[in-house]
Amino acid sequence: MKTWVPSDAVADVLSDMPGVECAVYDGTTPEPEGIGEVEVWVPPLIPVPDVPGTLARMTSLRLVQTVTAGVEPYRPHLPEGATLCNARGVHDAGTAEWAVGAMIAVLREFPEFTDAQRRGEWAYRHTAVLADSTVLIVGYGSIGAALERRLEGFEVEVVRVARTAREGVHGLAELPALLPRADVVVLLVPATPDTAGMVDAAFLGRMRDGAVLVNAARGGIVDTDALIAELKTGRLRAALDVTAPEPLPEGHPLWSAPGVLITPHVAGSTPASGRRMLRLIKAQLSRYLAGQELRNVITDSY
Ligand code: GLV
Repeated sequence: MKTWVPSDAVADVLSDMPGVECAVYDGTTPEPEGIGEVEVWVPPLIPVPDVPGTLARMTSLRLVQTVTAGVEPYRPHLPEGATLCNARGVHDAGTAEWAVGAMIAVLREFPEFTDAQRRGEWAYRHTAVLADSTVLIVGYGSIGAALERRLEGFEVEVVRVARTAREGVHGLAELPALLPRADVVVLLVPATPDTAGMVDAAFLGRMRDGAVLVNAARGGIVDTDALIAELKTGRLRAALDVTAPEPLPEGHPLWSAPGVLITPHVAGSTPASGRRMLRLIKAQLSRYLAGQELRNVITDSY
């Protein structure tokens, strides 16, 4: 079974699986031979240069197992007969931890204090605080649940929103009414045609004065110009691990907007995710080889 994997570490972990023949392709090195025989593709974290073209030439493809939670580069171009599975769970710890850190950093003004430290300035002042606030999680899946567990000690109220309402989770339709209640709004929704540009001027306009927008999802969910306009008024602040465009080009106005903390899509890029990713890929390929039902299959309800 010809399998393309993103790293030597993945090839190593699969090396004792009978019949699995791995070639490493991370998109920065020349493409390995035999693309037409690839049956399983584990694409790299950062998509290869031409995903649609690569998928179109994978004429024997049966399974794409991503190492990411997001599957938007693959989903629209998946060849007939191939199954797409995401890495649900792999980035829960890393991303939830980033979100807690990012909201605290913005509320407690760590970036501003770091700037003052660099100037050698003792910039004493009161700041906002996470305690007693309401954290609205928009896109309550496995990362959202991991975030809620981590927030348990912080004395906050967590409000959950997902595409479909269920016990304890509000539906997206309730968002306009919930936004004005939140001190922190955390975006964790997948990038789909429905969520593109969801955080527009109207969404931001409903957020309360002094609220913080935390984006750990995808940059395209937020209308960047609308966000910059709000940041410039000083009414809202933001912590962004993802941006549109991404990477954010030098000189882009978002870099210098007031009250924004930007990290370069690093929330899940940790050894914790790496360990979980290796376990998930090994378990998924064992199921695939045994003809068992696969986990994390992406369906229309994704
Ligand atoms: C990271 O961005 C992911 O989708 O897992």
